[in-house]
Amino acid sequence: MSDEKSVEDLPGVGPATAEKLKEAGFDDLMSIAVSSPSSLVEAADIGEATAIKIIGAAKKLADVGGFLTGDVVMEMRNQVSKLTSSSRALDELLGGGLESGAITEFFGEFGSGKTQITHQLCVNNFRPIEDGGQEAHSIFIDTENTFRPERIVQMATAHDLDPTEVLQTIHVARAFNSHHQMLLVEKARDIAKEHPIRLLIVDSLTAHFRAEYIGRGVLAERQQKLNKHLHHIMQFSHLNKAVVAVTNQVSAKPDAFFGDPTRAIGGHILAHTSTFRLYLRKSKGNRRIARLIDSPNLPEGEAVITISEDGVRD
Ligand code: GTP
Ligand code: MG
Repeated sequence: MSDEKSVEDLPGVGPATAEKLKEAGFDDLMSIAVSSPSSLVEAADIGEATAIKIIGAAKKLADVGGFLTGDVVMEMRNQVSKLTSSSRALDELLGGGLESGAITEFFGEFGSGKTQITHQLCVNNFRPIEDGGQEAHSIFIDTENTFRPERIVQMATAHDLDPTEVLQTIHVARAFNSHHQMLLVEKARDIAKEHPIRLLIVDSLTAHFRAEYIGRGVLAERQQKLNKHLHHIMQFSHLNKAVVAVTNQVSAKPDAFFGDPTRAIGGHILAHTSTFRLYLRKSKGNRRIARLIDSPNLPEGEAVITISEDGVRD
């Protein structure tokens, strides 16, 4: 990723302008390339002509604006890898596993298995490609202090893996508030320069945001921050061809803003950014039902999974 160009590389963008742009969320070439001149004018106190020039340069550097023929797009799609969940039914529901370069969101009430699934994914990410893994390292951003190495040991052992080796590939950080959580995604970029990171977990994506931004007056701000955070996560996913799995709680009582309790918090922005959304609900005993809600290319459907000491299974 060292040849990656940044905002500072744009002609006409000095340090002060770069700073203003970043402040306003235009912190990579892609976000500038797809923006309107007026939004840059407002964000960075620059003239319209300069804004147009900057956008044009960003388009060139970020390599956007060109059309591709369907077969080339197909070829790119074929490079997408799939990470197994250890449940055949769930993998099938997702078209073969969790997709790289995309965000998969697990939402559901407490105890529905979101955290268990994220642990299983970290173990599976270590596994050989022929076993549905990616032979790679994982990053786990833990906002609720629920990462448990003991569970990794159990799940690794159940797949005949050396638990210590697996643990050594999982980079865990506690996020103490939403701001810290956002910083950790930036930190993740640094770790990805040193290790082959192909999985990013954020468990939970929304808990801090929900706790910190309470009431109608701050909802817009919450969505704006969450949007920026997701943008960075998506960017990480693209750059590293990484699988991203995030978790999201459903609110127990109707949310003042979002209403329906079975709808994930985070609202429209999260719904539009997650590439795959799975709604988890409890069933009898250790069974859980995963329902695919939104997907660009897969039919809606359900899979029954179980959660045991060994981890996630059919
Ligand atoms: P919140 O984070 O509270 O919203 O919930 P969650 O969706 O993350 O739930 P989590 O993944 O933590 O699921 C917890 C459930 O997994 C427990 O209620 C157990 O049913 C199950 N579970 C966790 N560990 C084990 C285990 O070692 N053995 C078995 N059989 N079940 C387990
Ligand atoms: Mg959890």
